[in-house]
Amino acid sequence: MIKERFSEKLKEILSSDDWLILQPEYEPEDNLKYESLFSLSNGYLGIRGSYEEGGKITLPYLYINGVFDKSETFMRELAALPNWLGIKLTIEKELIGIENCQILNFTRVLDMKQALLAKSYILRDKKGRETLVEGIRFVSRANVHRMGIKLYVTPLNYSGIIEVENIIDGTIINFYDAPRFKVKHTYMTANEALDKDGIYMEVATRDNHLHIGSGCRIEAYKNNRGILKNRMFHAFGEQGVEFGDFDAVEGETIEIIKYVSMYTERDAARYALHGLVKDEIDGFLETGFEEELAAHRAVYEEMWKSADIRIAGDFELDRAVRFNIFHLMSTGNERDATVNVGAKLLSGEEYGGHAFWDTEIFMLPFFAYIFPETARNLESYRYHLLEAARKNARKNGYKGAQYPWESADDGTEQCPDWTIEPDGSCYRCYVAVYEHHVSAAVAYGIYNYVKITRDKDFLLNQGMEILTETARFWASRCEYIAEKDRYEINQVTGPDEWHEPVNNNLYTNYLAKWNLRYVITLIDTLKKEHAKEYDRIIRKTGLTDGEIKYWEIVQDKMYLPRKEGTSLLEQFEGYFKLDDVVIEKYDENDWPIRPEALKTKKARQTQIIKQADVVMLLHLMGEEFSEDEISQNYEYYEKRTLHGSSLSPSIYSVMGLKVGDDSKAYRYLKRAAFLDLLNLQKNTREGIHAANTGGVWQTVVFGFAGVSIGEDGMLTVCPHMPKEWEGLDFSLHYLNSWLKITISRDNSVLVKVLDGETLEVKVNGQIIKASRE
Ligand code: BGC
Repeated sequence: MIKERFSEKLKEILSSDDWLILQPEYEPEDNLKYESLFSLSNGYLGIRGSYEEGGKITLPYLYINGVFDKSETFMRELAALPNWLGIKLTIEKELIGIENCQILNFTRVLDMKQALLAKSYILRDKKGRETLVEGIRFVSRANVHRMGIKLYVTPLNYSGIIEVENIIDGTIINFYDAPRFKVKHTYMTANEALDKDGIYMEVATRDNHLHIGSGCRIEAYKNNRGILKNRMFHAFGEQGVEFGDFDAVEGETIEIIKYVSMYTERDAARYALHGLVKDEIDGFLETGFEEELAAHRAVYEEMWKSADIRIAGDFELDRAVRFNIFHLMSTGNERDATVNVGAKLLSGEEYGGHAFWDTEIFMLPFFAYIFPETARNLESYRYHLLEAARKNARKNGYKGAQYPWESADDGTEQCPDWTIEPDGSCYRCYVAVYEHHVSAAVAYGIYNYVKITRDKDFLLNQGMEILTETARFWASRCEYIAEKDRYEINQVTGPDEWHEPVNNNLYTNYLAKWNLRYVITLIDTLKKEHAKEYDRIIRKTGLTDGEIKYWEIVQDKMYLPRKEGTSLLEQFEGYFKLDDVVIEKYDENDWPIRPEALKTKKARQTQIIKQADVVMLLHLMGEEFSEDEISQNYEYYEKRTLHGSSLSPSIYSVMGLKVGDDSKAYRYLKRAAFLDLLNLQKNTREGIHAANTGGVWQTVVFGFAGVSIGEDGMLTVCPHMPKEWEGLDFSLHYLNSWLKITISRDNSVLVKVLDGETLEVKVNGQIIKASRE
């Protein structure tokens, strides 16, 4: 048991191994990776798993979702905010820290069940003094404005005075270790005592002057008695430090507790921030660390009841799947409809916290089935930014609504036009100019969200408005080619970003056609059955019968490239004429090795692609293609996909099962599930791959468990259990029922209603009645 590595106090708290992610030793080169893996989020804020005492290699970022700033950088990005992790312990000028001392014993674990980070190490300083430092930290989900750290400090072979520095560090800047990109997004407006003691620091973002207040207090206890003496607050420039000391006695454990709170002007008026933070900390002290932790734990217990997946028979994979779910569910926000989930969750700096198509295509299904309120917020986020998407379309010469490739808080395009390469050269980035399929993803997201949640109210009102405007965008984005009597979308980039731009990317054309077709059908239903909503949509969008007629023609004549006379779909016009390079070798992690040919040729000159593109289309629109088309295309494109994006392996896993290639599907699931844990993309330091976390969930639930919704609206479960698994269970919400689905090795399925109504479910082709028994 991993918890055996801790002393009694923590052993009592920590969960069993299936819930623990272990860091068994300290290697400074791994710091940034572990900071991402061990980040904690409560949906409101996220903080990376840096050490309380600091370190040389660290990006100790804390983000509050929705707090963006641009300043000198290329785009609005989540601002790194003052970090409150700091606790430094010193004996006679020797810091008790992992980098200053000899490490005699080291363990850190992420406890996913309770969403807490625990550590234990014995440090020996230069004078031979040994200290056992253990601790836990959490960001409360019961009250998202409370965060706490508790350290257990035991001098093992000495007695003396230990000095404590409790720190809030306002010097943190984004992209700290990338000199060209470094930027400070905030300025300080207050660095003062919280009350009689404690620290209060207030900063504001530089562009919008949005204020953020952070505060903390530290206490030290021996046998529940406060022992911190000589308390003093100091402001050292942009660091707020509270000093104190205590007498430490050999063999006796001191508990140090740090109580923290944060509020921003997104929550309350500027003048109220200091008071709110102070009251919250007073309240936290009154409640007590243990009780607050218990309340937090209770919320997670409920969340896990809905979200956990149990795979019997493959312990490591079971835990890795849980790890992905943990990070995704922790970042979802059920309270705020104006924030999304960024491509790196709230765990790292890459992509600035921006929302991509990753949200709708990869993460939304998880939230729709498991946490529908969060899914509704993700949908509302897009509605809230519809006006900005309309402006974006107009700016680019189109009609309707064009959603930005990268979206932050105001809905303007946040994908930079320029980036700087490591050699200092400037690189014109055309992604936002050509990659338009995000608008189709937003439309598809609405369709899928409503299919799963049956949130008709959203569909008929906000959803319909978005769908109409994205359809309008697509109609204006198409060109009529008279000599071929067809509509084309030219100069466009599909999901595979290594071919940029191309003409007629099949994925984009198909989804544009689908968006138009879907709206035409919906409008017709609205007209016949929902007069009030029909009037509303006409009034809000100015849609005319003539426009609908035109859309009918466009979708009917949309060009969909394919190899004539075969089942092969062509990723884009001319793809099959490119050099036919295929992947032949795989590394020890089963990851494809770049073919030799790419040493002399650019990927765009070849058929090698970055990520699922045609196969993504088959994943989303599978029911519109024949089995033969699906398997022929899977086989063709699989040999040519390098998975240069984390948005790829999970899709190849789900589709591998569709075509009956179970062993490939299993290998892809493993790659996806361990992508961050084993740092397979070599960039986990920049944050957890959010889309992949949702992809892992989809792979297990849609792929191996075979969950889908039939045309008749009936939930269907048709599993393909891998031979390695002895059992699989998970739960989901459908219609008015909360269901527990248990699958055995032989693919037999048990569906039980945990809450709500009895429900008919199609299991392995047979309709059964799921009830509470
Ligand atoms: C992928 C995109 C994805 C983005 C953010 C890129 O590398 O090609 O499909 O949306 O990362 O995750």
